[in-house]
Amino acid sequence: MRITVTIQRFNPETDVKTHPVDYCIEAGRETTVLLALIKIKEEIDGTLSFRASCRAAICGSDLMMINGIQKLACKTSIFEELDHHGKIVIGPMANMSVIKDLVVDMDPFWKKIRAVTPYVVSQNTDQPTPTEPLKNIQEALQNADACIMCGACLSACNSFEVSSDFLGPAALAKAYRFQVDPRDEIRRERLDALQGNNGIWDCVRCVYCVQVCPKDVEPMEQIVRLRKRSIESGFTQSIGAKHITEFEKVVGEEGRLNETRLPLLMTWGNLGKMIQMIPLGIKMLLHGKSPNPFAKPPEGHEAVREIFKGRKK
Ligand code: SF4
Ligand code: SF4
Ligand code: FES
Repeated sequence: MRITVTIQRFNPETDVKTHPVDYCIEAGRETTVLLALIKIKEEIDGTLSFRASCRAAICGSDLMMINGIQKLACKTSIFEELDHHGKIVIGPMANMSVIKDLVVDMDPFWKKIRAVTPYVVSQNTDQPTPTEPLKNIQEALQNADACIMCGACLSACNSFEVSSDFLGPAALAKAYRFQVDPRDEIRRERLDALQGNNGIWDCVRCVYCVQVCPKDVEPMEQIVRLRKRSIESGFTQSIGAKHITEFEKVVGEEGRLNETRLPLLMTWGNLGKMIQMIPLGIKMLLHGKSPNPFAKPPEGHEAVREIFKGRKK
């Protein structure tokens, strides 16, 4: 069957931005997007640039936008795409600078991975003796070690789109992977390093990284685990950590979320932050998002308080 594949092309020597080009090729049921690209390059236009290596969803090098979603070209069936979208439009990974055609600059991705010290740090040069059964370690890893470094999660990340310094889902999943490695001797220092700006508290939990990851690493879930560990290890002073601890306190005490009191508790002792919150507080009040602090609590609040009391037993 003859199909049309649209590719967003970009040549840095002649183009100012990407532009679509249509290619007609013969495709069968077994044709993947990667096979289609190879066919186009071999038979129609040898200047087409893309990355690929293993052709088996292992190396992570052929991640691209396929009909608007981050996917591995070697794992994506042309016909399934046609069934779902009625077209095949291929482009370079979103949120990344394009070098040529479908090849993007992965330097920011690697920089973030390097920033979390992606290897075991231990003074012990002997072959380490595991002190825990391997099965327990495997369970604790929660698939964080399955990452193939494809970059799909970073490309889909809302926080990264807004702030390019955010460490991002893949690097934070990697940070979790070493957090649970019993051989590592700097686990507390690792947690400490993730508390500031651009660390674990800057994820907005949009879930996109979970949706696009081809290896089910579920980066956002690893970030949530890092947050939990941080609070359990006493890292409770960041605004993000306080949002969780004070949120729990307010709902436990009042049986409702009190948006007037919560920001005050979160920023208590930090005058600068408190002043920063004032315009937002006024906006929330004007839009009815902050409860009147003197109003009667809503019906059912006692039941919620009881649930919280029961939870602590
Ligand atoms: S859940 Fe967090 S890390 Fe994942 S894509 Fe959204 S903002 Fe980024
Ligand atoms: S976490 Fe998943 S999406 Fe992100 S780089 Fe690793 S394999 Fe790719
Ligand atoms: S070519 Fe290696 S993951 Fe697709």
